[in-house]
Amino acid sequence: IPKDFFKKLQKCLSKRGSRDNISVSDSEEKRDSIGVKRLSDARDEYTQIKPYAGMPKEVLVLYSSKARYRVPREILFWLTVCCTLALVAVTIAVIALSPKCLSWWQASPVYQIYPRSFKDSDGDGVGDLKGIKEKLDHFEYLNIKSIWISPFYRSPMKDFGYDVEDFRDIDPLFGTMKDFEELLATMHSKGLRLIMDFIPNHTSDRHRWFNLSRTRDPHYEDYYVWTDCKPDGPKPNNWVSIFGNSSWTYDEVRGQCYLHQFLKEQPDLNFRNPDVINEMIDIIHFWLDKGVDGFRMDAVKHMLEAPHMRDEPQVDPNKPPELVTTEWDLHSDYTTSQVGLHDILREFRAQMDIYSQEPGRYRFMVIESYDYEEVYKTMMYYGTKLEKEGDFPFNFYLLDLPQNTSGAWAKHLVHLWMGNMPKGKWPNWVVGNHDRTRISSSAGQLYVRAINMLLLTLPGTATTYYGEEIGMENINVTSASRDPQRSPLQWNANMNAGFNDKTNLTWLPLHPDYETVNVEAQMKDDGSVLAQYRFLNTLRQSELPLNRGWFCYVHTDANVFSYIRELDGLKRAFLIVVNFGKESVVTDLSSVRELPDELKVLMSTNKVNDGKVFPKSRIQTEVGEGLVIQYSTNTRFNPNHPEECYISEKACYLETIGILYKCQ
Ligand code: GLC
Ligand code: MG
Repeated sequence: IPKDFFKKLQKCLSKRGSRDNISVSDSEEKRDSIGVKRLSDARDEYTQIKPYAGMPKEVLVLYSSKARYRVPREILFWLTVCCTLALVAVTIAVIALSPKCLSWWQASPVYQIYPRSFKDSDGDGVGDLKGIKEKLDHFEYLNIKSIWISPFYRSPMKDFGYDVEDFRDIDPLFGTMKDFEELLATMHSKGLRLIMDFIPNHTSDRHRWFNLSRTRDPHYEDYYVWTDCKPDGPKPNNWVSIFGNSSWTYDEVRGQCYLHQFLKEQPDLNFRNPDVINEMIDIIHFWLDKGVDGFRMDAVKHMLEAPHMRDEPQVDPNKPPELVTTEWDLHSDYTTSQVGLHDILREFRAQMDIYSQEPGRYRFMVIESYDYEEVYKTMMYYGTKLEKEGDFPFNFYLLDLPQNTSGAWAKHLVHLWMGNMPKGKWPNWVVGNHDRTRISSSAGQLYVRAINMLLLTLPGTATTYYGEEIGMENINVTSASRDPQRSPLQWNANMNAGFNDKTNLTWLPLHPDYETVNVEAQMKDDGSVLAQYRFLNTLRQSELPLNRGWFCYVHTDANVFSYIRELDGLKRAFLIVVNFGKESVVTDLSSVRELPDELKVLMSTNKVNDGKVFPKSRIQTEVGEGLVIQYSTNTRFNPNHPEECYISEKACYLETIGILYKCQ
């Protein structure tokens, strides 16, 4: 206690006493009368030298009731109350005003692994699940989170896994169920999602159900599509398989023909039988229970056929019927996209949605359907406002880019999707898969980087078929028509390109360019296809205008396709200029007044042009060159050109505090 403490206290009390017109003794007496301890006692206590025991209650009360303590205390109290209420209000407002976060299947490209060809861990020359697990770092490096693995179910491999013998088992070639579970657990621990292939249209002819069906087991009799026919007689109708020739095969055991829209070893299931639908739902549950994050639904448009089984109309009515052997010869009016198909898929989706309710475990559904020019048929897989279906159907239109590499054609193909997609839906882009010639081979190496730039800067989810990230090309084999695009992934310049480092076996030959075109070499070269893929993917994920902003066409000509990605409220925006043509050109964007006069290249597919500054009237691009130009502006392009612009879900940015909010 400071020496003069008590003096000060007394002085203060006596001042107060005189101000209140009462003396100290008066007040002492008053306190006495209400039984309060005498002030003098307190004084005694405080003159004794002993450890400080705190301020006595009386003194405290005396001080704390003074205005200069009471008022600030009350102010602080009410301030705390107000701040708490304000905080609650702000939290509610932020939640109400925040746009939906992008889900995992929107935030990352989907990478397709063809398991035979990704990485062989056991030296048999065929890739396997353990091999995939060994190589998960590749995705960390690329910043890819969603992995679709083509089928690894038990299968006789007539269609390399798309002919399933047991939907609940792993083919020994790829590993065991334990390998699968370990792969999934490791992927999840690394924040990666696993999308499985789901093949509802058909099974293998070795599936238990087919054997029970051909022997007319009462429960399984109608699991497949059977009809009467003679062993050597005419086919039941003119329907043809996707792989060519009649889609009917006579089965000696049952003495009838069964339908197969693919290989004869892939009999079509009968989805008019509710038991078949239930079997499929059980299988969906089986894998969702194991924890898979989604399904790629294979060949769904073939799931139902017209029960009347009439001949399909020929494309060329004058063609002799015996020459009608391919899907291109017929209008597939009775074998694809039948009424009822979407009901089945929506039921599958509803089942998946039950599992999606688990927080952070959204289960994704992507649909495979080639409808070519009938784009409206594809769009139906997005579902309706009232009923969900696929998160998106694959967009295969960019596969046609090589037909006519040009700016105008690129825009045409992009617009086929953007102009037909239902409002508010999420686009996606595919430039290759296990069924199609690699884009690097069909379009030519010259355009590989530009195509990857297009993929990763367009709005929506990019799909990358293994090898596209390094510009892998088709191999030169003729054994089976789809083998050329399925060669082993080129990891390094060592034995078997690092695909199999145990023995000298590879199920398909490697591309001879593997010594230079491989992951390891490209990781060391910051101008490589791989480095550019990684840069663009990382940029896309860190920049709001690229991952969820507006997409606006700004310019198209024979060579160049150019568009803007911007977000309302954010000054930073991106201009993409890609030359898909046949000549180097200078593009004049001086009429685009929303662009600043000078444009600086953030990244060019032609590394020497990184950092170049162009006046907006003279943007130069070489053949196959793509530019990402980052600029800053106060005027957004979309409000002045609404018909040129698309956004899935509008959001605005409040730059002062750095938040995103829902806006109209
Ligand atoms: C899909 C697959 C293809 C397979 C077919 C039959 O189109 O992508 O590889 O052959 O379905 O399952
Ligand atoms: Mg193997």
